[in-house]
Amino acid sequence: MDNLAVLVSGRGSNLRALHEATKDGRLEANIALVVSNNAKAPALKYCSEEGIPCIVLKTKDFIEKNAYFKTIGDEIERFNVNLIVLAGFMLLVPQSFIMRFKYRILNIHPSILPSFPGLEAQRQALEYGVKISGCTVFFVDEGCDTGPIIVQKFVQVNEDDTIDILSDRILTQEHDSLWQAVKIILDGKYKIEGRRVKILEDK
Ligand code: GRF
Repeated sequence: MDNLAVLVSGRGSNLRALHEATKDGRLEANIALVVSNNAKAPALKYCSEEGIPCIVLKTKDFIEKNAYFKTIGDEIERFNVNLIVLAGFMLLVPQSFIMRFKYRILNIHPSILPSFPGLEAQRQALEYGVKISGCTVFFVDEGCDTGPIIVQKFVQVNEDDTIDILSDRILTQEHDSLWQAVKIILDGKYKIEGRRVKILEDK
C-alpha cells in the first residue's frame, strides 16, 4: 500500500478528510507520517486519537530553511513515503525540497487558481466580487500556488456570504478534492504535459 506524509500547521480538517477516505476504502493508502511546524496544531490531537505517527519540527530549531526541510525530507524517507500532501501547511517550501521530491508534493488551496493565490484567498475572492470560487489541488512548484493543477471544484459565492460562510462552503469541496487528487496520482492515472495534468480515463 502507498504511504503518504501529510504536512500541517493548524486545524487539520483536510488531514481528517484524507484519513477518513483511507479508512472507508475510497483511497487505498496509509497516512504513515504527519509533520507539523506548530506544536499547538489541533491536527496533532487528531493524530494521537487516531494513532497516526506525528512529529513536530519547529523552524526556530534550525539555522536555516533548507536545513529544516532537509530534516523533514529525511523523516519522510524513513517512512517510505510515496506522496507528500501539504494540508494547511503554512510555510513556503524551498526549491531544495521541491527538487528532492519532484512531482511528489501536492498542495490544496481555497480558490480557483490562478485567481487569489497566497494568504486569505477567501477574503480576496469576496473583496474582488467574484460570483464563483472554489478550491484547487496542484503539484507544488517553485512559485506560490502556481504548480500544475490536478483537481478543481467550484462553489457559488452568494450575496450575503461572509468570509467564514464562504470558507466553510469551499472547505466541503476541499475535503472531497484532496483524496480524489491523491487517488489519481497514486493510481498513476495522469500524464503531465507542460503545465497540464491530463487525467487518464479508465479504458
Ligand atoms: C484550507 O483551507 C486549505 O486549503 C488551506 O488552509 C486551510 C487548512 O485547513 N491551505 P485545515 O487545517 O485542513 O482544516
